[in-house]
Amino acid sequence: MTYRDEIDLNNLPKHIAIIMDGNGRWAKKRMLPRTYGHSKGSDRVIEIVEASYNLGIKSLSFYAFSTENWKRPQNEINKLMELIVYYVRTQLEKIKNNNIKINVLGDIIPLPELVQDEINSALDETSCNNKMNLNIALNYGGQDEILRACKNIGKDLLDGSINLNDINKNLFENYLYTRGQGPIDLLIRPSGELRVSNFMLWQMSYAEFYFSDILWPDFSKEELYKAIVSFQKRDRRFGGL
Ligand code: IPE
Ligand code: IPE
Ligand code: MG
Repeated sequence: MTYRDEIDLNNLPKHIAIIMDGNGRWAKKRMLPRTYGHSKGSDRVIEIVEASYNLGIKSLSFYAFSTENWKRPQNEINKLMELIVYYVRTQLEKIKNNNIKINVLGDIIPLPELVQDEINSALDETSCNNKMNLNIALNYGGQDEILRACKNIGKDLLDGSINLNDINKNLFENYLYTRGQGPIDLLIRPSGELRVSNFMLWQMSYAEFYFSDILWPDFSKEELYKAIVSFQKRDRRFGGL
């Protein structure tokens, strides 16, 4: 029996967002360095992207590095940056061939130049793809994203390209990193933490939350299927009856 068989393909979440968490604890339990947990965690990203793609999920967002993660030791930050480059290098061909579009959420300017170059070429090479959006949140914070949108709206107000009365939810969403993509339907956080840690605050307004005690390096596609089955049992009322 697999949860895959229980999934109703006509009622899939359009946008799934994942707060990958628990890599460090996974490694610690095995007396391994935290960075080893990050490597294992990045293998799971590949598995979950594949499984989501095969189901027909339209948008998939991963929280890879937060605006708060700069507080970590430099060697751990370096390892995370290395893994991002490695992931893009090894997966880009497959991503391109499968018509997946990579988007970055967050400001990559403070990232090492090598990481920026790698990401920029991945953005260029997949910009015309349209089967699935693969969003990678890097140096991302939900509050930063909202402030950035406000500043850009302010600029456009000042130069006259928009009017005060033009500002509504639709317009605001065009100033977010996820412009053109719908809100999050299903937010998944493994590792037992019950918080959102500054992830996609605007986009998760009506998301269904799925928390799991499983650590991210152990989060297999079966866990994803289980989360989707749970999502499909929810009664989403959006404030109605
Ligand atoms: C991965 O898990 C999340 C990232 C910042 C990449 P953690 O590194 O936060 O693992 P824990 O929470 O310490 O176990
Ligand atoms: C959230 O995980 C950030 C990412 C997954 C990239 P953290 O491990 O940094 O979050 P906190 O510190 O537990 O809130
Ligand atoms: Mg953590």
